[in-house]
Amino acid sequence: MLAVTDLRKEFGGLVAVDDVTFEIADGEIVGLIGPNGAGKTTLFNSITGVLEPEDGTHVEFDGTDIVALETHDIARKGLVRTFQIVRVFNEMTVLENVTTGALFGNDESISRDEAEERAREALEFIGLADKADVLAANIPIAQKKQLELARALASKPRLLLLDEIASGLTPGEIAELTDTIRRLRDERGISVFWIEHIMDAVMSVADRIIVLNSGRKLAEGTPEEIRANDSVVEAYLGDEA
Ligand SMILES: Nc1ncnc2c1ncn2[C@@H]1O[C@H](COP(=O)(O)OP(=O)(O)OP(=O)(O)O)[C@@H](O)[C@H]1O
Ligand SMILES: [Mg+2]
Repeated sequence: MLAVTDLRKEFGGLVAVDDVTFEIADGEIVGLIGPNGAGKTTLFNSITGVLEPEDGTHVEFDGTDIVALETHDIARKGLVRTFQIVRVFNEMTVLENVTTGALFGNDESISRDEAEERAREALEFIGLADKADVLAANIPIAQKKQLELARALASKPRLLLLDEIASGLTPGEIAELTDTIRRLRDERGISVFWIEHIMDAVMSVADRIIVLNSGRKLAEGTPEEIRANDSVVEAYLGDEA
């Protein structure tokens, strides 16, 4: 579904992402982990058209080269992301926020009514339907994260890129969110590429983990393989021990 080859992004002299190659299959949940500054968000930005990667980078989504495309065109193809810092429209209701996802999503000619219908369905799926008419400014952080997921879902993604969606949540909230992510794949067939620092959350649901360190792919494997990988433990997991 997603094939990234030799992805490279530099900022001046700094190589933030250093020739990274990987694939994500249809229906897969893949975790992306690595220390602060490893290049994880830059990798997302380079895939989704927020940043322009260096020449020589190839990004194929469903067999189409998407490197030169704009973010909104990439989203229309079904590759949709959330941001590390929640981006909700505080002056709009929860439902209005999610409706924007449907209007700017994977569907050329959707009416306002259809978009709202799809937004309600997404809120139902995510478990936020009872907050539909609340101003987004007035919901707590855990629900803002749910709102972001609902908005992404309303845009009919085929591959969802999540950037630290579990950060700042309580263990109970994280468990709920992780369960929702698993349901998105199991019940909706949405593939997920998930950046996360909270190791237990991403490891509990990912089929495969990719580890970045100083812009390079350090390791790739099942959660069990990654936990047992000495260089990963040294570079990253060691911090937590
Ligand atoms: N717009 C930018 N301009 C210059 N340098 C940048 C820019 N964005 C990121 N960087 C640098 O690129 C490197 C990778 O940053 P990035 O945000 O991708 O890391 P990350 O793995 O997402 O980290 P974190 O876990 O803290 O979110 C860092 O050294 C960062 O300072
Ligand atoms: Mg980041």
